[in-house]
Amino acid sequence: MITNLQANEASRLKSLPKAEVHLHLEGCFEAATIAQWAKAEGVALPRPQEDLFTFSGLADFLGFLDLACGLASTTQRLVELSYGLSQRLADNGTGYADVIFNPTHWHSWHGRLGAMLDAMDAGFKEAEQDGLPSVGLCVSLLRTQSADEAIELVDALHDMRHPRVVALSVDGNEATAGRTGPRFADAFRRAGNVGLRRTVHAGESSGPDGVWDAVNLLGADRIDHGVRAIEDTALVGMLSDRQITLGICPTSNLVLRVYPSIQEHPIEKLRLAGVRVSVNTDDPALLGVSLVGEYGLCRQAFGWTDEITKAVARTSIEASFANSDVKSNLLEGLRAW
Ligand code: ADE
Ligand code: ZN
Repeated sequence: MITNLQANEASRLKSLPKAEVHLHLEGCFEAATIAQWAKAEGVALPRPQEDLFTFSGLADFLGFLDLACGLASTTQRLVELSYGLSQRLADNGTGYADVIFNPTHWHSWHGRLGAMLDAMDAGFKEAEQDGLPSVGLCVSLLRTQSADEAIELVDALHDMRHPRVVALSVDGNEATAGRTGPRFADAFRRAGNVGLRRTVHAGESSGPDGVWDAVNLLGADRIDHGVRAIEDTALVGMLSDRQITLGICPTSNLVLRVYPSIQEHPIEKLRLAGVRVSVNTDDPALLGVSLVGEYGLCRQAFGWTDEITKAVARTSIEASFANSDVKSNLLEGLRAW
């Protein structure tokens, strides 16, 4: 799955100024870290360390997140994870990332959202002070939560006004949760009213209907995945007309079995139809993905030229929730690439 890029191609793609807009903190655990923390806590792993990241699909994968995140029980561990994520960004030449984090997976922190945000913020701040890229947080609902829980989260975020938080998100498995757009519409409306941006997982474990709901009911500024929009021509037209960016993660869609091969992945068809597409890693450590590798994969599979590569990187920066200074700096660097 992971492309073997020539060293010079990898270093050129590392030097490409870009942002990442679809990346989960929950997906940034190293196997060795999980094994070490599990041993310290006396928790049994479901499989040997060398097979720890073998998943049968999205449901299996999401269950694993509960186990991994449950081990991050101390402030120090959260700081370490957040710092490690920033290091991963720097290793890929990523200038900024919107990072999704879903409080429901982190059992040890339930009921302590403020403390959790502060711990992550401390890791990201330390990273920024060390010259690593900056990060905004998208706090995420799980698709299986209730309407009341969703409103409670938005109200808590509004009360805290934490400077690290840029957006409300929703992720999880739409195939098991069913249609939940109507359930979350109030919470997303409220989030928009209090100045939070909105990003919605849809069109991965749901088909085109999930993407329509993300736009029409949840007011999504961006769609995470969105790839199954390709099954509905009118939807592709709407996404293109409204210039709504998709946060696409090609290898994630292959590993979690949305598409059988990169040749059948619709990113290129969507791009050619005028949809704004960005390239991302989703859960890089758990899925064995790097951002440089994802750009390389698309260039190899679809023959992306430097001009196309630059246009996709430009989309990632423009669609990010970074502040205007960060965006202008990245765009200036991109013009010179
Ligand atoms: N949470 C982490 N990764 C996810 C994915 N690919 N889909 C839905 N929820 C997720
Ligand atoms: Zn995701």
